[in-house]
Amino acid sequence: MRQVRLAVIGTGHLGKIHAKLAKGISAFKVVGVVDPNRQAREAFCQEHRLKGYDDVSEIASRIDAAVVATPTLFHKDVTAPLLEMGKHVLVEKPITLTTDEADLLIDLAEKNRSVLQVGHVERFNPAFRAAAQKIDTPRFIKGERSTGYTFRSIDVGVTLDLMIHDIDLVLSLVRSPVVDVQATGLTVFGPHEDIVETRLTFANGCVANLTASRASFAPARSMQIFSDAGFVGVDFTTRTIKSIVSDDIVKQGVAEVHQLSAEGKNYVRENLFSAVLPLQEFEVAPGNAIEAELKEFADCIQRGLVPTVTGQAAREALSVALQVRDAVHQHRWAAGANTTLVGPSLLPEVKPVAKPRRAA
Ligand SMILES: NC(=O)c1ccc[n+]([C@@H]2O[C@H](COP(=O)([O-])OP(=O)(O)OC[C@H]3O[C@@H](n4cnc5c(N)ncnc54)[C@H](O)[C@@H]3O)[C@@H](O)[C@H]2O)c1
Repeated sequence: MRQVRLAVIGTGHLGKIHAKLAKGISAFKVVGVVDPNRQAREAFCQEHRLKGYDDVSEIASRIDAAVVATPTLFHKDVTAPLLEMGKHVLVEKPITLTTDEADLLIDLAEKNRSVLQVGHVERFNPAFRAAAQKIDTPRFIKGERSTGYTFRSIDVGVTLDLMIHDIDLVLSLVRSPVVDVQATGLTVFGPHEDIVETRLTFANGCVANLTASRASFAPARSMQIFSDAGFVGVDFTTRTIKSIVSDDIVKQGVAEVHQLSAEGKNYVRENLFSAVLPLQEFEVAPGNAIEAELKEFADCIQRGLVPTVTGQAAREALSVALQVRDAVHQHRWAAGANTTLVGPSLLPEVKPVAKPRRAA
């Protein structure tokens, strides 16, 4: 099969990872990387023997496809012309800043028969994939995603930066429309929200409580899902899964705890996570999720397949994320019509600390 001639656009943190991995995938021929910031790409190009360009127009005629890893602010402007030219695009998440922009990209991809894949890479996380197999009709989901402050993706708030990963995962599991969104958030460094907590209610009654922070001293990436099949907890960082398939009596809710004898209560206490709620814990084999995502991109182009994360799926995640962000901005922290305590900027922004002057 003919190699896919690829450009990586944006050689920041993620673009470098994409370019390095794509170079190792035989389905791709990496034609070059594009970044208007020469400094951002030069050392990288030298180290990896890649050609660097200021603008995609310099290599557009020599590529079949591109990975767009620019700040989200530029996703629409960089991706739309590529799709118009009939190129296939893997654009990083979130697909765009607005749903109108996302609709434009989806339309262009359809018209030009281009693959439009979006980088919601957690769908390729081996731990999520293993956990998803153990879930049957989710009823209640808890998710947490917290990092320290990295100074990256600050063109958007934490909702579009981090929480959108979990929104996408939850939508892929629940498969029912979101009917209610409640959220509160805080700005720590600004200008956008840095900490957000949301409660999403779905038409089928499922509820998802998600927390995201990019100003946290305790990094975490985890999700707990209570479904008809039992409980599954997944830690995305350690790739460990905890699962419980409860016995029939617990599942049907007929355990009469008040009527248990002292002996019966003792048995439950001593065997709670062995016989009554048998807990299994295992580690999933490591796997590079971005590499799997890139391989799927090549496969979709070469064999005409539909990607796991389509433009439409990413648009749905974006739409819910924007509702969360709006709810954060509408939250009132005190009663009364005159209060100015609305939205995430409750705390004063951290001002740069002036360096102490040296004594002359
Ligand atoms: N999938 C994930 O887990 C994940 C993780 C981090 C970031 N991201 C996404 O990846 C994208 C990039 O994030 P990052 O952390 O690598 O950002 P970054 O700031 O490190 O890098 C962005 C690069 O894009 C370049 N750039 C800006 N405008 C450009 C243009 N018009 N053409 C070409 N290059 C341009 C900048 O010079 C910079 O080098 C964002 O959309 C972000 O949300 C996804």
